[in-house]
Amino acid sequence: MGLLLMTLSGKRVLLIIGGGIAAYKSLELIREIKKRGGSFRVILTKAGAEFVTPLSVSSLSGEKVYTDLFSLTDEAEMGHIELSRWANLVVVAPATADLLAKLAQGLSNDLASTALLATDKRVLVAPAMNVRMWTHAATTRNVAQLQKDGVLFVGPDDGEMACGEYGPGRMAEPLAIADVIEKILGGKSLRKGPLSGKHVLVTSGPTHEPIDPVRYIANRSSGKQGHAIAAAAAEAGAEVTLISGPVSIPDPVGVKVIHVETAAAMLASVQKALPADLAIFCAAVADWRVKSVAGEKIKKTKGAPPPALALEANPDILATIAGMKKGRPSLVLGFAAETYDVLTHAKSKLATKGCDVIVANDVGAGTGVMGGDKNTVHLVSKQGVETWPTLSKTEVAGRLIAHFSKILPKKGTK
Ligand code: C5P
Repeated sequence: MGLLLMTLSGKRVLLIIGGGIAAYKSLELIREIKKRGGSFRVILTKAGAEFVTPLSVSSLSGEKVYTDLFSLTDEAEMGHIELSRWANLVVVAPATADLLAKLAQGLSNDLASTALLATDKRVLVAPAMNVRMWTHAATTRNVAQLQKDGVLFVGPDDGEMACGEYGPGRMAEPLAIADVIEKILGGKSLRKGPLSGKHVLVTSGPTHEPIDPVRYIANRSSGKQGHAIAAAAAEAGAEVTLISGPVSIPDPVGVKVIHVETAAAMLASVQKALPADLAIFCAAVADWRVKSVAGEKIKKTKGAPPPALALEANPDILATIAGMKKGRPSLVLGFAAETYDVLTHAKSKLATKGCDVIVANDVGAGTGVMGGDKNTVHLVSKQGVETWPTLSKTEVAGRLIAHFSKILPKKGTK
């Protein structure tokens, strides 16, 4: 007997089975996810139930199958919102032309489409349809929109179709879908590239430092630049760990994401994720935290002065890692968001933090960098200053990764 690897253990998949002849292959996919230790819930669309019965799905999965948006028992047990939030990943297999169109348009007129609209998790679709439907202008438009929205695709494959035609439109094989699920959830890069075999660590977003259970101190940060860097590193074949503060953008694909709130938790997660070849500290870490966090909400009392907050310094994550005597990543990059004298501040930061490069950017009022999609950066190192033109944050990320993958020593930690 082969070695059974529980590669999906602790992972939760919400599987949506659409109405297509390929639905029978989804039964195989259920077995595969189960074999790899993953837990799952299944939504079967009305059309899907024409091809496989709820009974066969639930017998195989050992789980209840959800079919109806307006079912009192389904909603009472686990409502559609809860169902989509429970999952780490939503997988639509087979994804029919109709389901893709609904998802692209944001329609929600049944349980499957409502769960897809309600989810805040990544969505992987395995399209399956007749070749003419797949190549139709409307489907092409919908697919382009979904890719722009960050929906992930596996397949369709080329081949003989149930309808007798030949071409793209066959659903990817269950084993291939399960492998992609594993890569997405396991943070394994989906590609080979210049960073294959390297581990890249990225921090992103703000940190929240609690004052009491409802209030906190934070820096402004959308996480867009850091997340784009993590995505670019995964695209380049790296194994990526992204340690993110609270942000409202989705997790990048093929990246292991650790969500944290405070600077202390961010530092602990960074240390736990080491060793790394390249570490990029993009997070806007709060410099201070409240010395003693109130256990209950601090009440506003009429006439009383506002509470005086005693603060203490947070650890400097970048300086801590850059200063490691043993096990320091080969390359350590810091960011410097400044509102004036950008280069002067960046140069002094390079020295005080002990990192190899400071990526400096002007975030002053009127630049639109904060929360925006564009960035103008200067690479400040011992070798001097290199200024790049204004680029989108995605382009900055791609260029940074391309630039530093050339400099990294060939031997990786992974
Ligand atoms: O000191 P300042 O916040 O301007 O430095 C910016 C750089 O230092 C960024 O790379 C940021 O991620 C990092 N940093 C850190 N821990 C802190 C403060 C900043 O890692 N406590």
